[in-house]
Amino acid sequence: MNLQKKIESHIRIVEGFPKEGISFKDFSGVFQNAELSKEIIETFADHVRGEVDLVCGIESRGFIFGFPIALALNVPFVMVRKQGKLPPPIVSASYELEYGEATLEIVEGQIPAGARVLIHDDVLATGGTAAACSELVKKVGAIPASYSFLVELDFLNGRSKIESEAEVFSLIHYQS
Ligand code: PRP
Ligand code: MG
Repeated sequence: MNLQKKIESHIRIVEGFPKEGISFKDFSGVFQNAELSKEIIETFADHVRGEVDLVCGIESRGFIFGFPIALALNVPFVMVRKQGKLPPPIVSASYELEYGEATLEIVEGQIPAGARVLIHDDVLATGGTAAACSELVKKVGAIPASYSFLVELDFLNGRSKIESEAEVFSLIHYQS
């Protein structure tokens, strides 16, 4: 079985959660399988090896694979946290969503200017979260060099918010 099929077999699709009309992709079952999780981490790392200097993982589910990807690449990992979680000095950036905005923060100084950054998260949905992270990376003079996601919800077209600037790599795609 190829990697995509193996991952899909560990994802539970729950219709109507958390509200009607949403088809929730519960991939917590992936973490039950250590061999599969290691294969996922290696695949993400192999994809960008030699092309990134640092990995940003987006709170909270982007931390799960983000840190081990950084370890596999032997590069630093930066926690990109939701607003109000980190003590000063911090750098923050926002991205306008259809309703409200996404604000993300890092500890100042953790992303050096000029660094080529892998932005990692579990899901690419509307793209607002990844775009806010990209703004943050650019704000400190670094480069959003590549993006990776376990799951991409193609029908929400989040890719259009980020793809012009760097490659977007998603292991699993859903059309609904
Ligand atoms: C989810 C998911 C991504 C984001 C994708 O995070 O983990 O980070 O939404 O959505 P977008 O592409 O429309 O911005 P959520 O904010 O639910 O929080 P969590 O990771 O802390 O569970
Ligand atoms: Mg998240």
